[in-house]
Amino acid sequence: MSLLLSVLAAGLAAYLLIYYCLFKGARFKSNTTLKGKTAIVTGSNTGIGKTTAMDLAKRGARVILACRNHQKAEAAVYDIRRESGNSEVLYMHLDLASFKSVRNFAETFLKSEPRLDLLINNAGLITSGRTEDGFGMAFGVNHLGHFLLTLLLLDRLKEAEHGRVVNVSALLYRLGSIDFNLLNKNKDLVTGQTYWHALRAYCNSKLCNVLFTRELANRLDGTNVTCYCLHPGVIATEIGRNMGLLQKLLFVPMSKLFFMDAEGGAQTTLYCALQEGIETLSGRYFSSCALQSVSDLGRDDALARKLWEVSERLCELV
Ligand SMILES: NC(=O)c1ccc[n+]([C@@H]2O[C@H](COP(=O)([O-])OP(=O)(O)OC[C@H]3O[C@@H](n4cnc5c(N)ncnc54)[C@H](OP(=O)(O)O)[C@@H]3O)[C@@H](O)[C@H]2O)c1
Ligand SMILES: *[C@@H]1O[C@H](CO)[C@@H](O)[C@H](O)[C@H]1NC(C)=O
Ligand SMILES: *[C@@H]1O[C@H](CO)[C@@H](O)[C@H](O)[C@H]1NC(C)=O
Repeated sequence: MSLLLSVLAAGLAAYLLIYYCLFKGARFKSNTTLKGKTAIVTGSNTGIGKTTAMDLAKRGARVILACRNHQKAEAAVYDIRRESGNSEVLYMHLDLASFKSVRNFAETFLKSEPRLDLLINNAGLITSGRTEDGFGMAFGVNHLGHFLLTLLLLDRLKEAEHGRVVNVSALLYRLGSIDFNLLNKNKDLVTGQTYWHALRAYCNSKLCNVLFTRELANRLDGTNVTCYCLHPGVIATEIGRNMGLLQKLLFVPMSKLFFMDAEGGAQTTLYCALQEGIETLSGRYFSSCALQSVSDLGRDDALARKLWEVSERLCELV
């Protein structure tokens, strides 16, 4: 009996230790209001993007849900308006897997919206397949689409008093690498179409986010716009929707035991978007609402510059 109790107690202690050390995130606390400010959140019909948009709406911002699926986006607009009591929440179509769609979105936005204070590059996915322009899906959506979007909107952000760009990266960037030769040959950072290849491609694209943020910060020096990237924590969302059965069997129990909910997942995004006084940390990487150091690759300025130049070429900006 006492042996059983000890085993149970040890199990519980191990669980709490793992949970509090690895999975529990921090809360962002602030009563900043956003009346009169405009924010774009990409991929905000579900998951972390939706809870982020909800919080910004509750603070009084005008919030644009930049999403690819009309029906899901309208449902999210409805939910957010109802719960926040803010009617200035609207949907604009954006499919990051298509340069044409990104350009159309930017054009529509710039024509109809006079200001932009916050750009939250949140959309992301783990899947194989190709974008409309032939790039690997993770690289194309998580990196290139957001790259083009950010550059097209940058001038409007510069007109804001303190514009910010926030990039939702992921801790998995640490497993990422960038092979420019492969990118040239294959329009992707991996070869192969299995879920594990897709996961590698995801890690690579998240390294791109970290590097992009670094280079963008350099290029924004002297303007009032700052930018940040972050790891949101390990969050139970739809991000694993393309997993096979085997992977799901592994991950679903884990997620029930350990993962944070989507509201918890929005906290560091909100911190980067709203915390006062972090402007001098532009270009840096955060998690659990705090500055974190990055790996050597994530700090490689030459790599960041090269990625920028290659991305400009791939997006046909030069
Ligand atoms: N969950 C985690 O543990 C975790 C950890 C680290 C980082 N992240 C990052 O957090 C961000 C949000 O992920 P999540 O966990 O909230 O995932 P999610 O629930 O799957 O939400 C992803 C969102 O991105 C949208 N999206 C995907 N492809 C798009 C495209 N081509 N154009 C426009 N929107 C697109 C999705 O729209 P549809 O619904 O139409 O597909 C959805 O709204 C991602 O960048 C992810 O990498 C998540
Ligand atoms: C986030 O990363 C994407 C892809 O790397 C980039 O295009 C986007 O503009 C970045 N935003 C910031 C704040 O760096
Ligand atoms: C940039 O910030 C400074 C200091 O806060 C402010 O005085 C100035 O008006 C800002 N620039 C723009 C374009 O709003």
